[in-house]
Amino acid sequence: MKCTISQALLIGLLAPAVWAGPAAPVIDVYKSPTCGCCSKWIDHLKANGFAVRGHDTPDVVQHKIRLGIPQGYDSCHTAEVGGYVIEGHVPAKDIKRLLKEKPVARGLTVPGMPIGSPGMEQGSHKDVYDVILLGKDGKPRVYSRY
Ligand code: CU
Ligand code: CU
Repeated sequence: MKCTISQALLIGLLAPAVWAGPAAPVIDVYKSPTCGCCSKWIDHLKANGFAVRGHDTPDVVQHKIRLGIPQGYDSCHTAEVGGYVIEGHVPAKDIKRLLKEKPVARGLTVPGMPIGSPGMEQGSHKDVYDVILLGKDGKPRVYSRY
């Protein structure tokens, strides 16, 4: 995981103040204070109309356990929106679809940190990755593929 303090600071300075209207879905993000890619993912959410409440914590894992992220399906940050868990660099598009379709599920995850996912951009390189829907029982199924 590549997360540096200087990255986080830089992104904090550059992040535009986005006014989110009353209808904007509120998403709570739990992350390490020094995680740069987490902050970049938050910027991606804001740019897509989400109202983000960031929570810096030295212990993100407690939230993964609390919200039922199975082993092997975890990433750097953990978020909550509309009663769902969002783990890792999930594109805003999939979160919007989730909130619209409202499946019976725990939520979405992009395990690991694939290059090219929102907040993990590195030039033109893009990994192929799946967004996984975790069922209420924790069973994974592919929700979308990039
Ligand atoms: Cu990350
Ligand atoms: Cu992160």
